[in-house]
Amino acid sequence: MKNKLLAALAVLLVAYGIAYLVLNSRDPLLLWDWSEIDTSEKYFPTGFVWGAASAAHQVEGGHQNINNFGRWEKQFHANGEPTIVNGDKSGIAVDHWNRVEEDTQLMVDLGLDAYRFSVSWSKIMPAPGVVDQAALQHYVDEVDTLIANGITPMVTLHHFTHPIWFEDLGGFEKQKNIAHFVEFSVIVFKALQSTVKQWCTINEPGVYMFDGYLSGHFPPGKVDPQLAGKVLENLMRAHVQVYTKLKSLPGGDKASIGLVKNMMQMDAQSQYNIMDHFIKFFADNNYNEAVLRLFRTDEFEFYMPTMADLSSKIDGASKALDFIGLNYYSHYAFNFNGNIDESLEAKAYPGEMMTDMDYGIYPEGIYRAIKRISQLDVPIIITENGIADGKDDRRADYIDRTLYAVSKAIEDGYDVRGFYYWSLTDNFEWNLGYGQRFGLYHVDFMTQERSLKEGSKTYVEIIRQAKQ
Ligand code: BGC
Repeated sequence: MKNKLLAALAVLLVAYGIAYLVLNSRDPLLLWDWSEIDTSEKYFPTGFVWGAASAAHQVEGGHQNINNFGRWEKQFHANGEPTIVNGDKSGIAVDHWNRVEEDTQLMVDLGLDAYRFSVSWSKIMPAPGVVDQAALQHYVDEVDTLIANGITPMVTLHHFTHPIWFEDLGGFEKQKNIAHFVEFSVIVFKALQSTVKQWCTINEPGVYMFDGYLSGHFPPGKVDPQLAGKVLENLMRAHVQVYTKLKSLPGGDKASIGLVKNMMQMDAQSQYNIMDHFIKFFADNNYNEAVLRLFRTDEFEFYMPTMADLSSKIDGASKALDFIGLNYYSHYAFNFNGNIDESLEAKAYPGEMMTDMDYGIYPEGIYRAIKRISQLDVPIIITENGIADGKDDRRADYIDRTLYAVSKAIEDGYDVRGFYYWSLTDNFEWNLGYGQRFGLYHVDFMTQERSLKEGSKTYVEIIRQAKQ
């Protein structure tokens, strides 16, 4: 009897061990003792690109009646709450549309090399097949201004927003609509290819899928796991089609084209609870692994137990990246409470200092993200990283530690080519409105006056030292 019990216990322990190893093999938790680390020891190779990033809807203004998010801002959730915190509207945002010269000078003042921004599809194509030449020219001029000031442009073609007419056709819910996005991308590429060499097709397909189709925070505000999977699949199809098309155009061979992947890490709340690991594994599967697997194998899979099940082949996906853009902010903790649906709701990792959002400060996570995404075997560009910090009392350390982690990854052999801080200025933070201040520059939203934040000086100093 005693022997049988011992044997059963041994089998259970081995099974637990194997499950633990499998569920943890992709991306195990990494914690550094920062009190033991001298963050002043950073190394960045010559030619490393220092930048800042933004997105049209968040900074330009003028989208309230023309794109999916502008329309969303005027709506209410079923419980009567406005879709945007405080009922904020993007409005004129930080008026970047009219302040390109001023904002370019802000970049120069920081010692930046590059600026990542998105072009507004809804301004360039007010109706299907119709091009607003003045809007297109605006971006031609913006790029010229940047280049004249020594700032290299990086253009994002889709950063969460698109014209209302595209949304009303079903947006990325329908595979046949991808042709519209390809058409728009070709128009922009032809206008800018002679001056813009770095292109991001789609910003964070996982975030667009999650917030638009699972959490209901972004338009169209649906909660539909199967449709979420379909939308993610179509976004990835759109990336491959745009990549292939642009590469075939004059100038395509000289363009470097990538996708921007947000690597939010999924962790178990308790390292010892195998069910917590199980839930984080599922969350990671759809949010991170679905995209990474596609780029490795051409296979798309999206699966949520009892809720969604999709799989398909996207030919050419594994050859459709010249670089991968990596956006990194934080990690989430998952805790199994008996109900899979509820347990899939992410929480901040316990015990961490928080940013102003529900993101804990976890700088070593960027090392982990770089390591994992390096499996795609293409150069890595950190296309976004930053902190919402209204008091500006955590920004300096956040930047210092994050860049220490990036530098360590480079020293350990990972091919990281550049870092773009999110964001150049405070701006409209989607469903969270104007309350979240990510900017290197503080913006007074009444006067539009920009002023450099104390904490941002750490970024300026790191860039200065790296260039010595
Ligand atoms: C997005 C940005 C956003 C930032 C901070 C990223 O997911 O690309 O548009 O402002 O995170 O939340």
